[in-house]
Amino acid sequence: MTAAGAGPRTAAIVPAAGRGERLGPGTPKALRLLGGAPMLVHAVRSLARARLVDLVVVAAPPEEVDQVRTLLADHHDGASLQVVAGGATRQDSVRRALAGLRDSVEVVLVHDAARPLAPVELVDAVAAAVREGADAVVPALPVADTVKRVEGDTVVETLDRSTLRAIQTPQGFARATLEAAHLAAEGEEATDDAALVERLGRKVAIVPGAEEAFKVTRPLDLLLAEAVLTRRRSGGVR
Ligand code: CTP
Ligand code: MG
Repeated sequence: MTAAGAGPRTAAIVPAAGRGERLGPGTPKALRLLGGAPMLVHAVRSLARARLVDLVVVAAPPEEVDQVRTLLADHHDGASLQVVAGGATRQDSVRRALAGLRDSVEVVLVHDAARPLAPVELVDAVAAAVREGADAVVPALPVADTVKRVEGDTVVETLDRSTLRAIQTPQGFARATLEAAHLAAEGEEATDDAALVERLGRKVAIVPGAEEAFKVTRPLDLLLAEAVLTRRRSGGVR
């Protein structure tokens, strides 16, 4: 909760400026429909509903900033909303959103628009862990497949699955840590924000991930997301 007059303390940045090329041709992925509403609307609703999130900052496809602002106007109950133009890479989109944050913000979550069904409870768990003193926090799930390292068409090594985790978003950070990580990373790309913090040699803690926070990347993921949403709406087991 925001103390009166103090301004937002915890902000959630939503990188949403990707094209969604692996999903196939069409509008930018964040704006594709899931259960009748754009994926971005689902993601923003879940963040805004989280008890600990005061502000949601969306990095939208640059040509869709006004459209996204209008789209989200009625869907950020529980938090304020800012929409900025995203960049050429995910990292660039996060950096642009970070650059516009108000001084009062101390904790920053970063959550992919492409994970529209992340439960509110996961958002609060990540934010709480940072507020309680962690520098960086990521949701982690055990890996179901056996993972091997390959070179060309040959297996080189089988990794010990018991020490591997699949990492999701929302990821949470002390603001100063995330800013330092992005500053140090200039020009070097990573697929998530925690990797940039790891490069600084800082500790990244894990909290239990949520299966429903899976990322919609390929067409099959969208089918799965539709099924999950249908089950939720019918009041089924979560
Ligand atoms: N993203 C972003 N800005 C970019 C690229 C990606 O904000 N220039 C966001 C996406 O909108 C998405 C998240 O980063 O919410 C994770 O990226 P990914 O799943 O790779 O989405 P896309 O880049 O849209 O998909 P693809 O790689 O298949 O084109
Ligand atoms: Mg991408």
